[in-house]
Amino acid sequence: MQSPRSEANTRRDFIKTTGKLAAASALAGVALPHVHAAGDSTLSVALVGCGGRGSGAVVDALSNKTGPIRLTAMADVYKDKLDGSYRALKRGPVANQVEVAEDKQFLGFDGYKHAMDSLKPGDIVILTTPLAFRWVHFQYAIQKGLNVFMEKPVTADGPSSRKMLKLGEEASAKNLKVGVGLMSRHSRGLQELYKRIQDGEIGDVVMMRGYRMHGPVGSAFSTKYPGNPSELMWQIRNFHSFLWASGGCFSDFYIHIVDHLCWMKNGWPVKAQALGGRHYKVNTEDKPFIDQNFDSYSVEYTFADGAKMFMDGRCMNGCNDIYSSYVHGAKGLAIASSSGDCGLPSSIFKGQNADRANRLWTSEVKADERNPYINEWNDLIDAIRNDKPYSEVKRGVEASLTCSMGRMAAHTGQEITFEQMLNHEHEYAPGCDTWTADSPAPVRAGPDGRYPIPTPGVVKDREYGPNPA
Ligand SMILES: NC(=O)c1ccc[n+]([C@@H]2O[C@H](COP(=O)([O-])OP(=O)(O)OC[C@H]3O[C@@H](n4cnc5c(N)ncnc54)[C@H](O)[C@@H]3O)[C@@H](O)[C@H]2O)c1
Repeated sequence: MQSPRSEANTRRDFIKTTGKLAAASALAGVALPHVHAAGDSTLSVALVGCGGRGSGAVVDALSNKTGPIRLTAMADVYKDKLDGSYRALKRGPVANQVEVAEDKQFLGFDGYKHAMDSLKPGDIVILTTPLAFRWVHFQYAIQKGLNVFMEKPVTADGPSSRKMLKLGEEASAKNLKVGVGLMSRHSRGLQELYKRIQDGEIGDVVMMRGYRMHGPVGSAFSTKYPGNPSELMWQIRNFHSFLWASGGCFSDFYIHIVDHLCWMKNGWPVKAQALGGRHYKVNTEDKPFIDQNFDSYSVEYTFADGAKMFMDGRCMNGCNDIYSSYVHGAKGLAIASSSGDCGLPSSIFKGQNADRANRLWTSEVKADERNPYINEWNDLIDAIRNDKPYSEVKRGVEASLTCSMGRMAAHTGQEITFEQMLNHEHEYAPGCDTWTADSPAPVRAGPDGRYPIPTPGVVKDREYGPNPA
């Protein structure tokens, strides 16, 4: 999924798929269970963060055929993003379920409140802004009694991880259902691989390898702030460049592979040590990059039993591109994702070579369950309509923390433990619940346009130093 060149294609593919599902299910005449006390089984959905993923998530949600569901409110801090998303949805396969009146399209940093205020308890809000705002929006959703789908990663630092864990417990105590967009967990192929690994088919897991290596993508590599809009708004627009907004390219891009490999191992690593650096410091026009990312990372994670996981990430053109994941056991090898974040098929081999002759098993998934983005919505809505316990928050936070731990190990040049990351006091976006478009950005450029960047071996207890005076 979501390969740098194919994310748009993937979205197009599942828009096609959902169109077919819609036609099939209209013919089938599906029974509609009740979810609201008033006897109205319609689920209303609000979208907070109307970018590429938010718009895709709406299509996935509205493609669910277990009962009536519609989009009724949208919120964003950028008008062009909200308008563009609305127009695209109105042209797409779920257009008839997009019922967002003009007075339900909210702009600004408090837009999320208005969008959620327009829903009833038991409805659903989709949180697809950059991660810094996740806890703010989740907190309000819980207050309003809403079910939630939120995108990954959910945190980049210790303080917001602790907040999110607590909020996750509050949501469960209120019986709210919460999905987190780590769609690997809903890949039917990976689900079967997980069972087979737990059943001992490859023996004890001793080592895992994950790779996401391709050219520069997203907004991870930025040149100097052009002076408008406000520095904060510009950083939001280029959120992959800033650790406070996204956890940088390491967290944002590599989390799916980190997450599903840890799932196969049935635990989270206890510590990490890592390499990484910035090889290319200027773009093709010789303009300096000013973002906070390295262009290559290699993280060695260690689990409590001593097993290792290596995650290699690179955003560089002209190099050997690899985007897949592997689990080595004492008896055999498994390919978890054969291409992309969790691309089918998964497979198991005798010994450590992935030779066809050694292949013992390959996943076979029914055609209508091959898209994990659709599966994750079907699973969430099933839990909502049939009142099944459902919270992916804790593991969403743990996957986010595992990424932050590896990233911080690379950025500081130190060994970092899971507990250190969880309990770290550096908060990357303090006060983001009170921001307006004119608030100062949490990292600010010096006179040369550069932001505080990681300096391994120099700044060792934080990922980056203070703003220039
Ligand atoms: N699961 C996946 O495969 C997958 C794929 C892509 C993106 N994502 C995740 O989805 C999230 C969004 O990514 P994207 O690619 O859609 O980015 P995007 O920039 O296209 O969309 C984010 C939107 O949020 C808006 N926004 C920012 N701050 C806001 C605020 N405080 N209130 C309301 N709106 C706000 C932005 O203006 C923008 O329209 C990220 O966390 C990303 O990691 C997940």
